[in-house]
Amino acid sequence: MVIGMMGFGTIGVGVYELMRDQKDLEMRYVLDIRDIGIPEATRRAEDLWEDPEVETVIEVMGGLHPAYEFVTAALRAGKNVVTANKYLVATYYDELLALAAEHGAAFRCTAAVGGGIGWLTALERVRRLEPVVALEGIMNGTTNYILANMTQGGLSFETALSEAQALGYAEADPSADIDGLDIMHKVLLSANVAFDVSLPAGEIPTFGIRNVTDDDVWNFKSRGLVCKMLGNARLEGEKVAVYVQPTLLPELSLTASVPANFNLITYETEYTGRMSFYGQGAGRYPTAANVVQDCLDLAGGVKSFYSGRARRVPVSNEIAHYRYYLRTCSAKKDAVQEEQWGDASVTRLMSVAEMKKLYDEILPEDPKVFAAAIG
Ligand SMILES: NC(=O)c1ccc[n+]([C@@H]2O[C@H](COP(=O)([O-])OP(=O)(O)OC[C@H]3O[C@@H](n4cnc5c(N)ncnc54)[C@H](OP(=O)(O)O)[C@@H]3O)[C@@H](O)[C@H]2O)c1
Repeated sequence: MVIGMMGFGTIGVGVYELMRDQKDLEMRYVLDIRDIGIPEATRRAEDLWEDPEVETVIEVMGGLHPAYEFVTAALRAGKNVVTANKYLVATYYDELLALAAEHGAAFRCTAAVGGGIGWLTALERVRRLEPVVALEGIMNGTTNYILANMTQGGLSFETALSEAQALGYAEADPSADIDGLDIMHKVLLSANVAFDVSLPAGEIPTFGIRNVTDDDVWNFKSRGLVCKMLGNARLEGEKVAVYVQPTLLPELSLTASVPANFNLITYETEYTGRMSFYGQGAGRYPTAANVVQDCLDLAGGVKSFYSGRARRVPVSNEIAHYRYYLRTCSAKKDAVQEEQWGDASVTRLMSVAEMKKLYDEILPEDPKVFAAAIG
């Protein structure tokens, strides 16, 4: 299968190296802005979709533009697309799937969720036999690294973040990780595939960890709890709850034990029960391996997305309930407080939708507010 690839950065270089040993895959073009010094290099994006022998286009440039323009041009030309770009797929989900179906092209993005974990392909397999009713997990290595090092190493948020940046886990602007946006894209894609729906990205609440302090972590530890940043989705009848939030878990639970920058993602079905997937959620070779696996699947005849045509559904977070740890100086907490943990409140049982509303009301008054579900 002849391939053209866009992007020769962290993942692109990994894909290029891993593909060299694959006799069924031929890398013909590699597009990058920089002078990348390989024989396949091109500066003309059109080469990838104008060459009739190219069957599959890999997009590992990242960002929305021009990735969107290039990917849609490739699909219109009937090329299969493989991408690791969760931001792109989550934003243009309906359009990309419709274009692929219209032009008889495959669209795969296994590396976009869970990096090296074959999570979307696992969902695709399980849902052939039985419906998925819920999924949850640690889907972002940077936030797990920060929280694990605050909990086990006693580091402050700032020091743990700087370490994550020095190790290359966190970007110079870490907002997408620490505010939960990266997880939001991953949980949206997972829920879409698992439940055969198309969820609106703008409606998914994300409570981040930007404001967590070492005092909060001490508060949790003294109660045998560990804070983890989780993406969650649950199907109940026709309703889908989906949200991203820091969650307090018993310290001996499986999820609480996930170290460093690892991911642990779990689905739940009626007959199989809970099934968890653990591994490297990012990094050059784990992520590149899933991109190459997608290409091998296509070379082997796969011609589809992971699920069928999706029905558009709203987010229904009134069906999911938690008690929340809420640290704020705002008096708005008084109406929901049931208990006090140090300086923080523990709320009565509330729906995620209700908590989101309260949090948005508190934020302008107290930009340092921190909320975590008690799982
Ligand atoms: N890194 C990970 O661990 C990981 C894990 C899972 C998924 N992903 C996803 O994989 C994708 C790639 O990530 P990455 O870490 O490999 O990013 P990266 O290191 O920044 O590489 C992207 C490459 O694409 C090039 N590029 C950007 N815009 C371009 C354009 N208009 N035309 C041609 N080339 C262009 C960049 O060149 P310049 O450097 O000159 O800008 C860079 O060489 C992203 O969507 C990311 O979310 C990454």
